[in-house]
Amino acid sequence: MRLLLLNSGPVATLACGDLNSPLTGADMSDTESMVQDGDNGILIDSDIIAKISQSEELADEFGTEDNSTLRIIDCEGKAIIPGFVDSHTHLLWEGDRSNEMQLRHKGLTYSDIAKSGGGIQKTVDFTRSASIESLTKLGQRRISRAFEFGTTTMECKSGYGLTVNSELKLLEVNQFLSEQTPMGIHSTWLGAHDVPKGTNMDDYVDELIHVQLPAVVEQGYAKYADVFCEPGWFSLEHTELIVKAAKKLGLASRLHVDEFVDGGGLQLATELGAISGDHVGHSSETARQSASDSGVMQTFLPGTPYILGHNLETPLRQCIENNWPFSLATDFNPNCRSLSMPFVGSLATHRLGLSPIEALVAVTRNPATTLLNSTPVQQVTGSIREGGPADLLILDSQYIDAWCQMPGDNPIYRTIKSGDIVN
Ligand code: NIG
Ligand code: FE
Repeated sequence: MRLLLLNSGPVATLACGDLNSPLTGADMSDTESMVQDGDNGILIDSDIIAKISQSEELADEFGTEDNSTLRIIDCEGKAIIPGFVDSHTHLLWEGDRSNEMQLRHKGLTYSDIAKSGGGIQKTVDFTRSASIESLTKLGQRRISRAFEFGTTTMECKSGYGLTVNSELKLLEVNQFLSEQTPMGIHSTWLGAHDVPKGTNMDDYVDELIHVQLPAVVEQGYAKYADVFCEPGWFSLEHTELIVKAAKKLGLASRLHVDEFVDGGGLQLATELGAISGDHVGHSSETARQSASDSGVMQTFLPGTPYILGHNLETPLRQCIENNWPFSLATDFNPNCRSLSMPFVGSLATHRLGLSPIEALVAVTRNPATTLLNSTPVQQVTGSIREGGPADLLILDSQYIDAWCQMPGDNPIYRTIKSGDIVN
């Protein structure tokens, strides 16, 4: 089946330069290279973008009426952008921690709440006892929501099981969802999210390396390993042991670092050759520079400090000024329950000084470069180009800039994933 989009407004193709590398600095706002003015048409054949041309030209060639092999959408001047790549989510967990905001208002910190029976451990209790069926249903519902908000590719972590069987269960559901839904899912093992109750840190790290990791690798569903590297959780030393062991068995890493304080996590991520350091709200300038020099992505998750009531601590303008590559993602988790990339875009533009086009690059083609692995170049997502994957969004506006300017509302009119309309 083919899909023909006619009469579009401007198209943010973002298809310039080397698609395997992130854009940085002034290139992130080079609209001349990245945006095509209005009245375009896009022909999609199966899951690939077959042709991008003047709307009139495509209408002449293919007509303006649906037929048995062609469906037509009249975009009525609406803008088109690439599908969002949410490169940091904790998609699968069960339970409810909505009581924690009141605790924060009483003065308890994230760490206090964790120590008093809330936080990750509380979610672990619910998630361990959840059946595969109920996690699958939750996953499907969350994926539908993510599609509504324009996400077409997402990274999904385990991390709310913390035993070999329950971590494998979460990765198995991720795999099932990637086969049963059109969402592009990239799975990450996050056994090192917390130390389970009744175990000590050293023993757990030993279990992670010698029991969980080999089992996860044998199962074959996770492409990445992650560690919550933060004072109070996993130390630099333990993180190094886990990341090195994972690397030996073929898993690249993307790490939670410097979320609450500068614990040297981004520096370590760089030394270990991680793909991405995530959160990175408190990383030092030196660490950011070394990360950039070594091609390590900084992935900012401003929704989390927003929800925790912290300063957003996200030096996005500094990244632009220094040509440091960065991405933005939701960090969807039981504490930060938003799958909306447009909301993240609102924080980045309304609060953190990015322009809408810079923020758009940070939620599409930049994070796509961290999820490549062995993906053939023609399948690299995050941009709109002939021969590329048909992952794109029709906005409810004639302006590309609308994508991040409706917090609490949804700027997405249609989400197209692999050539199918999914919302
Ligand atoms: O990325 N900080 C570590 N992990 C998650 C939150 C986990 C939770 O609170 O359940 C995060 O924010
Ligand atoms: Fe996270």
